[in-house]
Amino acid sequence: MSNCKRIGLLTAGGDCPGLNAVIRGVVKSANTHGYEVVGFLKGYEGLVDPVSFIPLNHKNTTGILGQGGTILGSTNKGRFAATVGVNDRLELDPELVAGVKTTVEQLGLEGLICVGGDGSLAVAQQFHEHGIPVVGVPKTIDNDLSSTAFTFGFFSAVFCATDALDRLHTTAASHERVMVLEVMGRHAGWIALYAGIAGGGDVILIPEIPWTFESVCQAIITREQRGRKFTLVVVAEGAQLPEGGLVTQDKQETQKQVRLGGIGNFVAKEIERRLGKETRTVVLGHLQRGGAPTTFDRVLATQFGAHAVRLIVERKFGHMVTYQPPDMLDVPIIDAIKLATVCPNCSAVQAGRALGICFGDDQHELPFEYVPPAEEAATASNGSKAATKSKAAGKSARA
Ligand code: F6P
Repeated sequence: MSNCKRIGLLTAGGDCPGLNAVIRGVVKSANTHGYEVVGFLKGYEGLVDPVSFIPLNHKNTTGILGQGGTILGSTNKGRFAATVGVNDRLELDPELVAGVKTTVEQLGLEGLICVGGDGSLAVAQQFHEHGIPVVGVPKTIDNDLSSTAFTFGFFSAVFCATDALDRLHTTAASHERVMVLEVMGRHAGWIALYAGIAGGGDVILIPEIPWTFESVCQAIITREQRGRKFTLVVVAEGAQLPEGGLVTQDKQETQKQVRLGGIGNFVAKEIERRLGKETRTVVLGHLQRGGAPTTFDRVLATQFGAHAVRLIVERKFGHMVTYQPPDMLDVPIIDAIKLATVCPNCSAVQAGRALGICFGDDQHELPFEYVPPAEEAATASNGSKAATKSKAAGKSARA
């Protein structure tokens, strides 16, 4: 190792598209500022017992901008856990923290860049409280971190879910089925909301909006009455059941950090039971975390990387970079690790409602549909069409 000024970098928690773009952004801009970079392997695990890192340079970071995953590896829920469940703080093992301090001192690191979601950044926050010079970069497909409009990885996951909806659309229409797509997001409905809008979903169920099967089934029936014989339902893995509770893959109910998953099937079965309509489920799962980042995520991740280096140059430790359009800013990590959920009244939900998307609550109304005059005669002799028209006309009169 040279006598050059040095920065440490690690990627922690679940992976997501754009991690390599951050790594490349950090290395390039660190070099510009006269720093060399060491990358710790497998997230926080590489910091201690045994310390494992690689020097990061132009040679081993070239060509990684559009690559999924992380060349440093990552660990989710290893020895470094600073939260239980969503908010409860868990103190880090003091011996581990002491070991990290030693590593930072021995390698002469002027700062440590921690790229992670809420759980991983909660670890960085505790490092900061123990005097370790950290800065944070917000990573997660869930987009559930406060103080930043978007985390990188989110739009890549939305792109994946939208592509799935596009594909489900054609097969659903061909077979006149209900298709239920379960997407990730943990306790926030961002992926379901954005993909649902981008992919033409008809029903979107998210944790932030209480819903009922009556409303979902009514939306499907109304679509049928209007001649749409298929329906696309997007459900967030963390959507609460109408009677309360989550569908999880873990049996232990006392465990707070449960693995979510299974609500898609639950919803599909109940729709089929109530309506007698063929229904299928797709659980998109980790496909949302894999693959290349979108162009937006490449730009965001690159800017995050460069801005994180600037925070170290300015010795602004304990802060996380944030994107508050059009600005790249920073906030104390402690302010960012609060769960950011979808506001049920946000513009995206309002737009969805205006388009007739059903969120499973009682605020659902399909928009007025114009019936061309040529069709009017036909509707007179067709009971179901006539009913549809009068409903539409009533709506128009109220407008
Ligand atoms: O937080 C990102 C995320 O992908 C969630 O959307 C999902 O619930 C969870 O991680 C899955 O974690 P794991 O990879 O440990 O199954």
